[in-house]
Order: sequence, then structure tokens, then C-alpha cells
Amino acid sequence: MTKEVPVSELSKSQARAELARLVEILSAANADYHSKDAPTISDAEYDRLKKRNADIEAAFPDLKRDDSPSDQVGAPVSETFSKITHRVRMLSLGNAFNDEDVQDFDGRIRKYLGLTPDMDLLYTAEPKIDGLSLSLRYEMGRLIHAVTRGDGEVGENVTNNARTISDIPQTITNAPAVLEIRGEVYMGHADFAALNQRQTEKGAKLFANPRNAAAGSLRQLDAKITASRPLKFFAYAWGELSEALADTQMDAIARMNHMGFSTNPLTEICHGPNDLIVHYAAIEDQRATLGYDIDGVVYKVNDLSLQARLGFRATTPRWAIAHKFPAEIAHTRIEAIEIQVGRTGALSPVARLLPVTVGGVVVSNATLHNEDYIAGRDSKGNTIREGRDIRVGDWVEVYRAGDVIPKIRDVVLSKRTDDSQPYVFPDVCPECGSPAVREDGDSVARCTGGIICPAQAVEKLKHFVSRSAFDIYGLGSKQIEMFFDDIDLPIKEPADIFRLEHRDTANLAKLKNRDGWGGKSASNLFAAINEKRKIPLNKLIFALGIRHVGDTSASLLAHSFGSWDDFITAMDRAGGRQGEAWDTLNAIDGVGQVMATALVDSFHDPKTRAAIDRLIAELDVQDMEKRATLDNPVAGKTVVFTGALELMTRAEAKVRAENLGAKVAGSVSKKTDYVVAGPGAGSKAKKAIELGVTVLSEAAWLDLTGQTG
Ligand code: IVH
Repeated sequence: MTKEVPVSELSKSQARAELARLVEILSAANADYHSKDAPTISDAEYDRLKKRNADIEAAFPDLKRDDSPSDQVGAPVSETFSKITHRVRMLSLGNAFNDEDVQDFDGRIRKYLGLTPDMDLLYTAEPKIDGLSLSLRYEMGRLIHAVTRGDGEVGENVTNNARTISDIPQTITNAPAVLEIRGEVYMGHADFAALNQRQTEKGAKLFANPRNAAAGSLRQLDAKITASRPLKFFAYAWGELSEALADTQMDAIARMNHMGFSTNPLTEICHGPNDLIVHYAAIEDQRATLGYDIDGVVYKVNDLSLQARLGFRATTPRWAIAHKFPAEIAHTRIEAIEIQVGRTGALSPVARLLPVTVGGVVVSNATLHNEDYIAGRDSKGNTIREGRDIRVGDWVEVYRAGDVIPKIRDVVLSKRTDDSQPYVFPDVCPECGSPAVREDGDSVARCTGGIICPAQAVEKLKHFVSRSAFDIYGLGSKQIEMFFDDIDLPIKEPADIFRLEHRDTANLAKLKNRDGWGGKSASNLFAAINEKRKIPLNKLIFALGIRHVGDTSASLLAHSFGSWDDFITAMDRAGGRQGEAWDTLNAIDGVGQVMATALVDSFHDPKTRAAIDRLIAELDVQDMEKRATLDNPVAGKTVVFTGALELMTRAEAKVRAENLGAKVAGSVSKKTDYVVAGPGAGSKAKKAIELGVTVLSEAAWLDLTGQTG
């Protein structure tokens, strides 16, 4: 990285160039904040750059740009594209990072399907394109809409832009009446270089990499701009179909190709994990000369009927995995270790690094996870870095995992200085001074300050307004921090957000009169807040920031209970951690004891509950469609499988039953509702009969639960 020149030493032309650079970084960071799950630069770095920008503007007032970051209040949001709900969710892929992970993937699938190692199981292997995924819907052969992945459930309608991409046919013949083609929009290396050259000539902002260029080009409000950008598209998957495309993945790809879509020529059939690994190496060898970015190889079970049997976990298919290329590594020094306090009170150590470029992004901090990790142990107490704990002043190898959060791979001991000292983990919360306690079995120490800890309160609020939660335009982390400490207009709890406008009206010190604000930006903020009073139940539950309740679990809960009233009534009733309401909660697929306990504890804490009630009074919570889980005849029931199963494997039977909301137990007791007995069932079936428990054949079970064999 080139060293930054101090503001006082900048020449006028350097200052001009520097303001251009800063507007680019800061607007990209703003966009990242809203379009990705995690921001790419730290808040501290953001603040530092914003200050540097302001300092340069103060020194050279005539250079201040029209698009100066100093004039921006919130992050620009893509509210401008209409939203479309995917008929079939757009999922992501699980990752494999080494050969062992690939063997495990194959092993899991064989176990699930009941295949022995000697039985043939074919896979496809194809490059993982580093672009952005897009779903194209055709009805009667005509392109109806093109939708980005978004959060997997709802994406942005970019149809007009997609129509300008030559790889995307407007009409197709010989296709099913309803056809959703999914694939990746990307930009080739040569086109990317030429685009950046044109941008330079125009004095416009440069794109950091082809992926950003593709994303930025597809999400243009003016389709003419998209049309001028050389985007390409590879088809590799599908969503809703009125009839199957083929019997195998490979034939489906051939069919898509025949219909006029580009498909990746490096796609091949592989016979098992060893073959996959060989093909991986072959693709990796060609990586530099392909002419477009790829970041791994995707493996998929070839037989589509097996794919259907394998199905999905919460967010990823069981039948596919992405084998990632190793992450780029960089060396840098740890300048400090700081402790951040999260919304659940967890103390998270963060390494502040000498800034270094890794995979095209400047990294200035990395997660250190917890106390054990710093000391060189994993969560099970195993040594992960023999004799190499992490210390301030150490040189370390950093990499970007999952492409966002930088991590430390190892310490370079040869560069450690003699005076270096092991890091001592704090036993009090650095924010509120309450004791930090590490409970048995918990890998992190937590601040015991609860509601009195300002850090927890701020983090809870930041989570509340985050993208997967309330996602309020103009009210991001920065603004939350500002309002939290505000004297005239404080936001201390979520309900305060929705009273902001009213409080501002009643106040003499008006928001619109403050630095950086005006009548327009203040009224925009109030409008953005009011717009979110109407909130879907799943977003609300997620926004509450209850420990162990992520967005998938929040959706599950929302779909199980349907309305806020039913949800909160159930939480109230489940209070004693026993009885029907408690059992029903535990029986929801995806809700375990740990989450159920966290939910009940949080709603029964009087202060938290009062804050939630104040919030609800401000909102219009939208009901969700109730999903079958709880209406299923076996939901909440306990089932035992015994004997040989002939229509499905044990693993498959278990997962399917759990997906229907049943609990699968290993032994028969009075609490068992059903025993499914295959040939050779012995003592368990006998015991069931003695206890009067219903015994079913495998076929009768499938019939009862509406499954097919
Ligand atoms: S298959 C149900 N195949 O990788 C899974 N995805 O990390 C459907 N991607 O969201 C995805 N190349 O955007 C598949 N050959 C490929 C891919 C690919 C790139 C992207 C896709 C997905 C992400 C998951």
C-alpha cells in the first residue's frame, strides 16, 4: 500500500486525487454496508477516512466535490428497484476447503442415501464463477423477469438491465411453459480492464475487481449504462419449472445450452471424490488463463432424483458443495488488540493491523475469536498453534475467509521481539466495567452488565436497524452511534426510533438545524422510519436480537406462529419451561432446547419485555403465512425407527421426520408416539406393543406423513 501523505503536506493536485480516491472508497463502503451482510472496512477506518476527507476539504475548499462524502447522511439504498419474491428460494453453497472436506461430503451423501463406497455415485464438477447470481423467469418461452439473489427469498427486479446482456436470450423455443434459469452474471478480465480504462479517461470511479464491476453494472438504474457494460452470463441451475429439464445435472446443462444459454465448458462428470479432486486441480491450473474470475469448483450429485432425495439444509443443498481455492495470504503486524462488546455481551478480541492488501481489499483488522484462540487453542481445548500464542507486536499471516472477515492464520515467530508479552484477556467489560464471565461450555466471556452496558445496547440497536432486520434508509450503525449519545434526541431502545419524529417536533433543538442535516435529510429520515412501521413478523423477530435466533430461525418461528399475537402468547405460555406450549416450541423443526431457552428467558426478563411492548405499540406487524410444520400429524410427536428400512436410509428417515416437526428418539418409552418398524424389528417393536404405542410399517409411516418413498 502506498503511504498516505499527511494533509498538511498535500499539493493541490495530490489533494484533488486524494478526494477522488476517498469518495470512491467511502461510497463503496456505504454501498457494501447496505448490499452485503458485512461491511468491508471497519467503522474506525471509515471514520478515519471520512475525517481525512473533511480535513482535505477544509484545507482546499475549492476542491470540494459535488458528491462529497461530507454531505452524505445515510448510505444510498437500492430502494429504487422493485422487489420480487423468489418462487423457489435462491440458496448458497456449503464450502469445502481441502481434500478431506471433499471426502466427507461424499461420505455424508453415501450415508444419507445408503450407498456403500463401492457403489457408483456420479458428480458434476464445474468452475465456481465469481460474479453475482441471477434468476431468469421465462413464461411460454418469453423472458418475464430477471431477479438478483437478494437475501435468497426476495431479490431486486433488474429485468430491463438483464435484457441488455447478450448471453441472456429474450425468447427461447422448446422450453417448459414455466422456466426459471439461474446462473452467474460476470465480467471477463479483458472487458474489465477496458472498462476501467474508459473510466480513467472519463475521470470516473474505477472498479476494484471484475465482480464489483459486474454488480455495479447490473444494478444501474439506467439500463442504457448496463447496456454499455460488457456483461456475460453462465447458466448452471434452475428454480421453478413446469416440467423437469432432464434426469441428470449434466443433461440439464446440455438442455440449457441447447435452449441458447452459455454454460461452462469445463463442466465434467466425475466418478467419486478422488476424481473430483483431480478435476479441481485441472481447473485450478487453468485459472489464470480462463479470462474470468473463478473462486473454486462446484460439485453436484449428477442424478436429479438423488438430488431431490437429498434435499436441503437451512440455507444450503445437501447435494452440492463449493470446493474453494485457497485464500490469498498476506503478512502484517498486530498493532493492538482491542475488545469489542457485542449485542449479547460477548467480548470479542480484534487485532488492529498495519493495513495490508489481501485479495484486492485493504485489511486493517482481523477477528481473534476468543481468549482460547489467542492462546493457541480451539474451542475443544486442542492446540492449534503449538507454542505460538498471538501477541501485540507479532507479525502474522492474514487471509480473508468467506471473502469478508479477515482472519489470522499463523504467527511468524522468527519476527517476534524479545520484549513481547503474552496477551492478558480482561475479566471486566471494557465498556461498563461489569465482570466478564465465561460460563461452562461457552467459548466466550460475556459482560454481565446486561441492559446497563451501553455497548450491548448500542450493538442491539445496530442489529435492529441492520439489513436483514428493519433496514431503515439513512439509519445505519453510524447514525445509531450518534443518536445513542445524543442529548436532545437520544435513541436508547428500538421504540425510541419510532418516536424520533414526534420527539423532534416537541424539541427546540431540531434535527434539521444540525451540522450535516437539513430539512430534506431530516424529513427523509422520518419518512424512512415511518415506512418501516409495517414490518413482516420474521424481520421483527430477527431484529430483537435474541441469542441463537438468526434470520433463518426467525423465519421458522414466524412461519410457525403466523402472527405476533400468537407468537408472544406462545412465549408467555412456554414460560415455565414445561407443558404443551414449551413442547410445541421445542418441536418446531430447527428450534432446539438452547434456542427455546434463550427465547423464553428473553421474553420473561421484565425490562426486556417492557421495551419490546413499547416497540410493538409503535408497529404494524405483518402476519406470515403459516407453514405446515405444526399442522402436520406428526409435528411435535416422538418417533422411533427400528428394523431395516427399505424405502429410505436411517439418516434420511430421521432428517425427513425432523423436517416435519417430529422428534426422532433412539429408544421406546411411554413418551413415544410412533414406532416405525421394518423387517427384523425386535425388542423395540415388542416394547412398543407392550406400552400400547402405535407401530407402523415404513409404507404406513410415509402414507401418514404424506411423503413418497
Ligand atoms: S449452484 C442450490 N454453481 O456461488 C445451489 N453456484 O456460494 C445453486 N456460483 O449463490 C448454486 N458458480 O451465486 C452454483 N457453477 C456454480 C456456481 C455457483 C458460482 C455462486 C452462486 C451461489 C454461490 C454460492
